[in-house]
Amino acid sequence: MKNDSTFTYGNYLGLETLLSAQHPLTNKHDEMLFIIQHQTSELWMKLAVHELISARKAISKGDLPPAMKMLARVSRIFEQLNSAWDVLRTLTPDEYTAFRDAFGAASGFQSWQYREIEFLAGNKAARHLETHKDKPAYARLESALNTPSLYDEAVALLSRSGFEIDPNHLARDLSFPYSENESVRDAWLTIYKNPKAHWGLFELAEKLVDFEDYFRRWRFNHVTTVERVIGFKRGSGGTSGVNYLKAMLDVVLFPELWDIRTEL
Ligand code: HEM
Repeated sequence: MKNDSTFTYGNYLGLETLLSAQHPLTNKHDEMLFIIQHQTSELWMKLAVHELISARKAISKGDLPPAMKMLARVSRIFEQLNSAWDVLRTLTPDEYTAFRDAFGAASGFQSWQYREIEFLAGNKAARHLETHKDKPAYARLESALNTPSLYDEAVALLSRSGFEIDPNHLARDLSFPYSENESVRDAWLTIYKNPKAHWGLFELAEKLVDFEDYFRRWRFNHVTTVERVIGFKRGSGGTSGVNYLKAMLDVVLFPELWDIRTEL
């Protein structure tokens, strides 16, 4: 414990470092909003990664109550990130254009924390590793790519709980995006048809759906804000921009959990 009376709020929170990390490249008033919006998003993503890694570990141990608590927190983090777009939406195209050229090819596409969240959730799009080659985050991302995702752990738990899961699916190559499997679908269907008999797994499934729901909203809010600010211009990271981001809206993290709803 820090009993020293000279230890302050600012020391504890590292505020001198945090509050001196805003370095606008222009003298345009609105660039500060752009920087702080990204920085605060990265801070919340840091917490999301922290929670997701622990939730995954808890699921792997079959310890569901803490896993669900952490997943609930991650959903609230995304809710927070979703509300934050309202601040950025006050940025008009002319205000953005005034400082846009200053940051060159820098792009949220290079956010290694975002990519780690995607890998943790199961969207293992290995091509994104390339962006981080020779960067400090590479090893961490490569490890996340080759480690079971949150959902892989949930599927393994289904198997350990007595559901018959296709062995080939359990032994799948973890570095590929998760793809739908009939045996997993059947297991979730049984659980959803009789939640009381499988309450822990049912609750876990609903927490996962919650997370994906909020994550989808983040993607949607992002692409809508981007269209509002830059229209259909190419992205600073070199993608087609809005069209690339719209394609990302089709990514499904936990496919069987969505699929079974048609039959319930
Ligand atoms: C006016 C504000 C913004 C604009 C115009 C914008 C634009 C874009 C565009 C066009 C892309 C596609 C990649 C590229 O070619 O650059 C992208 C990707 C991305 N942006 Fe933004 N963005 C904005 C705000 C934000 C904020 C506040 C965040 C929060 C961290 C963020 C995070 C990301 C991430 C993580 C990606 C990668 C998405 C993926 O690969 O699925 N962006 N952004």
